[in-house]
Amino acid sequence: MGVAPNRRIRASARAQNIEASASMALDARAKALKAAGQPIISFGVGEPDFPTPAPIKQAADRAMADDATHYTTVSGEPALRKLVAERTAEMTGVPFSWNQVIATSGAKEALYIAMQVLCEAGDEVLLPAPYWVSYAEQAKMAGATVVPIESSPPGWKLSPDDLRRHLTSRTRALVLCTPNNPTGAVYSDAELAALAEVLADHDLAAVVDEIYARISYVPVGRWLRAAPRLADRTFIVDGVSKAYAMTGWRLGWLVGPPEVMELASAMQSHLTSHPSSITQRAATFALENHATIEATVDEMVGTFRERRDAIVAGLSAIPGVDCPQPDGAFYVFPDVRGLFGRRLGPKGRVVSSSAELSAYLLDEALVVTVPGEAFGMPGFARFSYALSMDQLQEGVARLQTALR
Ligand SMILES: Cc1ncc(COP(=O)(O)O)c(C=O)c1O
Repeated sequence: MGVAPNRRIRASARAQNIEASASMALDARAKALKAAGQPIISFGVGEPDFPTPAPIKQAADRAMADDATHYTTVSGEPALRKLVAERTAEMTGVPFSWNQVIATSGAKEALYIAMQVLCEAGDEVLLPAPYWVSYAEQAKMAGATVVPIESSPPGWKLSPDDLRRHLTSRTRALVLCTPNNPTGAVYSDAELAALAEVLADHDLAAVVDEIYARISYVPVGRWLRAAPRLADRTFIVDGVSKAYAMTGWRLGWLVGPPEVMELASAMQSHLTSHPSSITQRAATFALENHATIEATVDEMVGTFRERRDAIVAGLSAIPGVDCPQPDGAFYVFPDVRGLFGRRLGPKGRVVSSSAELSAYLLDEALVVTVPGEAFGMPGFARFSYALSMDQLQEGVARLQTALR
């Protein structure tokens, strides 16, 4: 018998159409360089640099000791879902029951499921740009077409007029992120109400990503508090990743109208079944124990605020960089177009795009940044300030030399 010839597996067009997460790729590159002993400073990180608060870790220890190590209910344990429903109701004034909540493996899975339950091939998903890149790739995975709506600095907010102009008979959903990654923009209740007014007469869903809601230096607007009458077509996405420094635990949630959440739950039953049982117990503890845990989070937010002020001052001192001060999350998103075409640093290198600038900064200064191209906004760059003040200052000093 002859040996069968080697045949190459053909990947689906859907898979080939997906772009890998640029920020995760950069993060991986930074980690590899660091592991190889290079003194890398990363402004690329998308997670708090603080440890998960100790009482939450202890709750996970207890969960293991109590043998909470088996499958849970699909969609998550009722205790956790009840806490999420209560918290969402408290924030918005709209009543929610626990069966309107599914716990997911990170907010990312919640967003993925939302796109899958909402979109048909050919539907349009509106994304205010700049946007977190997974929104676009997940919409594509659901067969939808991405319709970016450009916003502009320094506010970076979607305007009701721009929203209205992009609505078509195919528009299926608007994905709104507040506080925003990458701009740090935080919408007020009044701004959200004005956007909701535009949607009121149209048949589309709002998917509102509030994963950074706990990390804000101004009061955070809440979509459903501003527009309770849109509750029957609003999906709220949130989780513990950023608020409680729990990115690696993988726990998020999706809250939405009951009949659609049943479908979302059915989908999750074939996808991941549920997030880790241990993680669910830890998250339940985090949500139950407001006073102690929230005080730790407040401290974290205070530290982020000091770093924000330091990085805005440091970047603003570089000629050619325009860095507005954001109100939330832990990113700044300066305009770097003023650097293009100039001779930069000791070697006089010239760059003509944000992607080239990020590559140059990694080579020349061993500093990681995420180019605006990764957010559908060339000409800008994202700097995370989820790193220690010492590292931040050393990084800014290196940038000032490399961009002189
Ligand atoms: C805007 C936004 N939404 C969702 C997520 C995903 O969060 P999680 O780690 O809980 O999946 C991130 C993570 O970077 C994010 O920036």
